[in-house]
Amino acid sequence: METQTDFLILGSGIAGLSFAIKAAELGTVAIVTKKGKFESNTNYAQGGIAAVQDEEDSFAYHIQDTLSCGADLCKEDVVRFVVEEGPERIKELVQWGVEFTRDESGGNCRYDLGREGGHSRRRVLHAKDLTGREIERALNDHASRKKTVHIYENFIAIDLIMESFVTGRTDISANRCIGAYVFDFHNNRIHTFKAKYVILATGGCGKVYLVTTNPDIATGDGIAMAYRAGAQIANMEFIQFHPTCLFHPDAKSFLISEAVRGEGAILRLKSGEPFMEGYHPMKSLAPRDVVAKAIDTELKRSGDDYVLLDISHRDRDFIMSRFPNIYDKCLLYGIDMATDPIPVVPAAHYLCGGVMINEHGETSINRLFAFGEVACSGLHGANRLASNSLLEAIVFAHRAFLRIQRDFKNIRDEDITIPPWDPRGATESDESIVVSHNWDEIRLCMWHYVGIVRSDKRLERADRRIDLISREIDDYYRNFVITRDLLELRNIATVAAIIVRCARMRKESRGLHFNIDFPERDDVHWRRDSIIAKP
Ligand code: FAD
Ligand code: SIN
Repeated sequence: METQTDFLILGSGIAGLSFAIKAAELGTVAIVTKKGKFESNTNYAQGGIAAVQDEEDSFAYHIQDTLSCGADLCKEDVVRFVVEEGPERIKELVQWGVEFTRDESGGNCRYDLGREGGHSRRRVLHAKDLTGREIERALNDHASRKKTVHIYENFIAIDLIMESFVTGRTDISANRCIGAYVFDFHNNRIHTFKAKYVILATGGCGKVYLVTTNPDIATGDGIAMAYRAGAQIANMEFIQFHPTCLFHPDAKSFLISEAVRGEGAILRLKSGEPFMEGYHPMKSLAPRDVVAKAIDTELKRSGDDYVLLDISHRDRDFIMSRFPNIYDKCLLYGIDMATDPIPVVPAAHYLCGGVMINEHGETSINRLFAFGEVACSGLHGANRLASNSLLEAIVFAHRAFLRIQRDFKNIRDEDITIPPWDPRGATESDESIVVSHNWDEIRLCMWHYVGIVRSDKRLERADRRIDLISREIDDYYRNFVITRDLLELRNIATVAAIIVRCARMRKESRGLHFNIDFPERDDVHWRRDSIIAKP
């Protein structure tokens, strides 16, 4: 089955939806999303969205905080425009129906601004501790009211379609994305989507790691697809580990927001002793890379399984009204955070690298745009400042829209005939265990060898193992009918291999990449992006 559309958007998180709402004014929009339309990293965002709002704050402070968190690898011009365009984009979210929590004390009705690690001022707009859910609600609501937008749920994109693949031409003008093959897995059918523009808004890749705050959709599909299509990928070694994921045998991936530390929570050892004093002047409110590494060091030193996050000195009413979701979740596991410290561990959380884009969200492939967590824009450098991710997504969605709006009327429908999907091996697998086994092995390998603290030996070991598993998966992919699990496995293997490659390239330690064999920063050779493309 073939569908022709002006815009094919892969993903229904903040990046995909905010672009869709704008693009609907220009033409037809197909949003393809691999689960229900709300399911995304966006939906689980807790802390909020950073933007200058207060007289005590300024663009200069927000820029400075972002730059110093990014360990001198941010692109300064990108940081500047993202920060400066932030307040305008926040107004737009509010016009679309997003309701941020307000501070109604003292008769004023301003937004209640939270604070998180690395921020020198309060500037995080939030909807209590369920900011992402509120954003998804409002954007899905708004997008589905647009007549030209159609959302395809439970459709997983398999691969991008390049003009060069279809025509066999190798000249530069054939380096153009013209659509995607997509698997409708409920009906077991492959759709061909043909589009004037393709937007990658597929989010991050937390599931490459054994312990992650990310939901199951975060398998790095967009990065893997873009890599296979020949796009440039950058800075994949910079995986952000969130310091405080709830430690409980029955809790899967539940984040304890950094906003809890922003409201005064203290990190303590199991013995009750605070330990961040020795690591950073901002103590428990230090940037994430510092805190995650400090926790890792303390856990290795003590042999304990977790550290404690303690906000029990704050008033119960305050805790319950500011963090209702976290409070309820902890209570479900027998932890009353108003009286008990919360056991926490670091977990893979955010990808600072991704598909390389310019200031308009354009990738190195024509008519293929990318923004949100899938992309590497230069905003985050070697370490993202908390709550800058939702901000980045809306700013780049708008910039991409402006760029496309400029050219759109001159773009005609192509008369290229796209061949139908080649089913290759058409036999059902009799050994699905291969998929689940390799899935576990990759995630375990990445957790142990490519985690918070790395070494040349560990990276080399990971490289060998991922390579072996990838070859097995390729073989399997060629011989058996596709399933959703197999597509995701193939993608996490590709992304894991790219992360290892970038990590092996960078012969220094900076931000989120710490290698004990190169413990210092090397500004002479490595104050630059690590960029790779398919050979
Ligand atoms: P996502 O929101 O992840 O959306 C990706 C979409 O792509 C999903 O709809 C997914 O189903 C779809 N998709 C993926 N692959 C395919 C495919 N092959 N085919 C079709 N569809 C596909 N950031 C902040 O700034 N502030 C916060 O407070 C904050 N809190 C966070 C809390 C948690 C628990 C987590 C996990 C992240 C948090 N982040 C936060 C990070 C932030 O939420 C994400 O970086 C951001 O939401 C990414 O938005 P996105 O639109 O790029 O991707
Ligand atoms: C959090 O609430 O701690 C997550 C914020 C972020 O990842 O930006």
